[in-house]
Amino acid sequence: MSTPNSHSELRVENLCMTYHTEDGQDVHALEDINFNMDEGNLVVVVGPSGCGKTTLLSTIAGFLAPTSGRILLNGEEIEKPGAERGVVFQKGALFEWLTVYENSVFGLKMRGVDEAKRHERVMNYLDLVGLTDFVDTPIYNLSGGMQQRVAIVRCLANNPSILLMDEPLGALDALTREKMQTLILKIWKETGKMVFFITHSVEEAIYLATDLFVMSARPGKIMKRYKLDFCHKGLEKDPRELKSDPEFIKIREEVLSLIWSMEEETAAHAG
Ligand SMILES: Nc1ncnc2c1ncn2[C@@H]1O[C@H](COP(=O)(O)OP(=O)(O)O)[C@@H](O)[C@H]1O
Ligand SMILES: [Mg+2]
Repeated sequence: MSTPNSHSELRVENLCMTYHTEDGQDVHALEDINFNMDEGNLVVVVGPSGCGKTTLLSTIAGFLAPTSGRILLNGEEIEKPGAERGVVFQKGALFEWLTVYENSVFGLKMRGVDEAKRHERVMNYLDLVGLTDFVDTPIYNLSGGMQQRVAIVRCLANNPSILLMDEPLGALDALTREKMQTLILKIWKETGKMVFFITHSVEEAIYLATDLFVMSARPGKIMKRYKLDFCHKGLEKDPRELKSDPEFIKIREEVLSLIWSMEEETAAHAG
C-alpha cells in the first residue's frame, strides 16, 4: 500500500514560534527546532505539559505559521493545511451520525475521487485496521478505540506523505491503548508512511519511536534525542515482554526523570 515512486521527507529548519496574546504578552512556545524525517521514521515527541508539542504539530500541519524558520515537505515549503498531511487528534474529528464507511470516504468524495477508486482504497485500509465488519455502523455506536481507527483510515485514504498524531490514544482505556499502539506500528510498517506522534506516555513513546525527542519547557526545544529500535521488535514480540526488557526500563526511567526534573523546575519558577 506504500507509494514506491514518491520518496517522502520532512525538514524542519530553525523553527521558532512566539504567540502574541490579546493582553500584549509574548509566549515563546518554540525555539530553534531542527530535525529531518524520512520514510521509515516514526518520530515521537514527549515533554512536559505546555512545552510546545501541539504547537509544533500545528505548524507542520499548516494550521499555524511559524514566527521564523521553515518546514519543507518533499521539498515544498508548508504554508497551509493539505491532504498530504493527515492529522489525527485525541478525539472528536468524526461525523458521529455517519457510518464508518461514510466517514472514511469523506475526504476522497470531497476531492472528487471516483467511486470505484475510493471504495477500493478505503476498503483496503478498513481491512488493515480490522474494521471490515463495521462499515455500516454509525460512529456513535463504536468504542473509542474503533473511532480512532476510523479517524486513521480517513487520513490514510487521502494517501498522505505523513501522519501527524496529537495524543491519538490519550482518551482510551489502558488495554485498548496497548492494542492500538501495536496497530499504529502495523500501519506504519505496512503503509511506509512517515509518522509524527505526540504522547504523554513515556512507555508508549519508547515502544513506538524510531526517533524519540524529549522537549524542554518554555521555550520548547528538543533537549534530548534517542534512536530506538523497540518498534522493530514490536510486532513480533509480546508488547508487555518488550516493555519489561531491562534496556526498555532503563531508557524509560531516564526519560521520566528528565521530564520530572523539568516539570519541577517550571513549577518552582511559577511559584
Ligand atoms: N493560541 C495561543 N495563544 C497564546 N499562547 C498559546 C496559544 N496556544 C498555545 N499557547 C501556549 O504555548 C505553549 C505551548 O502550548 P502547546 O503547544 O499547546 O503545548 P503542549 O501541546 O506541549 O502541551 C503553552 O505555554 C501554551 O499556553
Ligand atoms: Mg498538546
